[in-house]
Amino acid sequence: MSARPLIIDCDPGQDDAVALLLAFASAEEFDLLGVTAVAGNVPLARTESNARRIRDLAGRPDVPVYAGCSRPMVREPETAEYIHGPTGIDGADLPEPSRTAEAAHAVDFLVDALSATQEPITLATLGPLTNVALAIVKNPAICGNVREIVTMGGAMGLGNVTPAAEFNIHADPHAAHVVFEAGVPLTMIGLDVTHQAIATPPRLEAIRALGTAPAAAVCGMLDLYGEKNIEAYHHGAPMHDPCVIAYLLASELFEGRDMRVDVELGDGHCFGRTVCDLHGRTGAATNAHVLQRVDADGFFAMLTERLARLPVDPI
Ligand code: BDR
Ligand code: CA
Repeated sequence: MSARPLIIDCDPGQDDAVALLLAFASAEEFDLLGVTAVAGNVPLARTESNARRIRDLAGRPDVPVYAGCSRPMVREPETAEYIHGPTGIDGADLPEPSRTAEAAHAVDFLVDALSATQEPITLATLGPLTNVALAIVKNPAICGNVREIVTMGGAMGLGNVTPAAEFNIHADPHAAHVVFEAGVPLTMIGLDVTHQAIATPPRLEAIRALGTAPAAAVCGMLDLYGEKNIEAYHHGAPMHDPCVIAYLLASELFEGRDMRVDVELGDGHCFGRTVCDLHGRTGAATNAHVLQRVDADGFFAMLTERLARLPVDPI
C-alpha cells in the first residue's frame, strides 16, 4: 500500500493536537505534505505555533507548517479559549517550537500543492474552513485534484457553540458553504459521532501508561478538556478531530450515509447549522457522506497503539 498524500488544516486546539499526533505517528499510511493552520480555537499566531510545537513533540521536522487565515471570510472572529484554555493546548506544557513556519501563506500552499500534484491529495480539516474555501475561490480547478475532504464539523443533531451549530461551521459558515458546494467528495464527521468517542478514565489510563512525553501531553490536555466537557455534557473529552484521522486510517470503524447537507447562513437561532437531509426530503443531490456511528473501543485501541510509536523524547 502506498502512502496517501495528505494535507491537514487545523486550529490546535487540544483535540487538534491529538489528531496531529495520530497522523504524525502514521507515516506508513500518510505522505503528510503539510500542516496548514487557521484561526479558530485561538488566534492564528497561537494555532500555527501550536502546530509547530506538536510537530516537535512528534519528532517530525520533515513536515512543513504553514500559517493561513487570521479571520473568517465574513463574520467576526470567534474563539474557544473557554474550552481549550488561553494557549489552545493547555495541559500539554510544551516549550517554544524549534523551527519557524514556512514563508508561504497556507492558502497559496494549498493552491500550489493541489495544482502541481500528479496524485490526488486528501484534505483533512479540523477547524473552520477558511483556508480551504479561499484556496477553492482562488483557483477552483484545484478541486479536480482533491481526492476527498474529510472534515470535522457540523452535526445532524444539536450543536455545541449554540444549541443549533457546531463550532467549526459556526466560526466560518460562509467558508463551510463554499466547501460543501465545491463538488468534491466530502465526509462530514459531526458531533453525533465525536460524542460517541469519549476519553473515559480507563481509556486515558491506557494512554498514560505508555509513559512517553507525547502520551503525557495527550493526557494532560485531555484531562483539562475532559473537565470542561463534564461541566457542559456530563461526560469526558470527545475526540472530535482525531476521528478525522482515524477515519482515514480505518474507515471500517465508522458508519454513515450519503445525504444533502446545507449550511444555514441566515441570521437567527440556526446560523451556522448543518441542515442534514437524512430522509431525502429536498430531493436535492447528495453532497456529503455523513458519519453517524463510531466503534469507540476500536478507535481508542488504535489511538493508543499509534501514540506508542511516537518518540519518547521530544525534539
Ligand atoms: C471542534 O471545535 C473545536 O473546538 C475543536 O477543536 C473541534 O475541531 C468541535 O466542535
Ligand atoms: Ca479543531
